[in-house]
Amino acid sequence: MEVTDEQYVDGLYGEDADLARTKKGIAEKGMPDISISDGYGRLLTMLVQLAGAKNVLEIGALGGYSGICLARGLGEGGLLTSLELRAEYAEVALTHMKEAGFGEAVEYVIGDAKESLAQLKGEGRRFDFFFIDADKDGYPVYLDYAIQLANPGAVIVGDNVLLRGRTINPEKGGPAVLSVRAFNERIASDERLTSTVLPGYDGLAIAIVK
Ligand code: DHB
Ligand code: MG
Repeated sequence: MEVTDEQYVDGLYGEDADLARTKKGIAEKGMPDISISDGYGRLLTMLVQLAGAKNVLEIGALGGYSGICLARGLGEGGLLTSLELRAEYAEVALTHMKEAGFGEAVEYVIGDAKESLAQLKGEGRRFDFFFIDADKDGYPVYLDYAIQLANPGAVIVGDNVLLRGRTINPEKGGPAVLSVRAFNERIASDERLTSTVLPGYDGLAIAIVK
């Protein structure tokens, strides 16, 4: 059987019990199967660790898969703040985080992320690492907030920047597509950022705030 490059690479790794349990739980709750790819999940852990991040902000928790990946990179005493629109998703995510041993390393903020971000800004909160993975229409606004809430040298990561082919399809022009194109162009051209965009899986943008 032919395998893709991504399937080959994922096949190098054995099953990860915490992540497998989380994926199963997400499916059992009837939540969408849209957690970050396994390969980019591993990259999140590495980037958080490399950045030495103490305070991580996630925008879009879903069922806690990426939360586990982010928390794995945090040192002792680090905190993941996770913004989630839906209280029932945050509940599922917290359950999975607790089962993986990270119940003390996460706080969930429920509600519209734009309001939560405005509140965090008002409180003077600052973060060393951002993972943007919520509604795609909001990506440009989330990027603006991330830059504003960033400590110097902070890392900003955005998932799904290829929108399963829609980003590069000239016949597509809905709000999510236009927003993600604008996000990608800003990632690439904003002089406050050093960046790259990885085209594997569904695309991942990675930037450092200078
Ligand atoms: C999809 C995947 C995601 O990871 C996400 O955050 C949103 C949508 C998707 O494949 O549709
Ligand atoms: Mg995603």
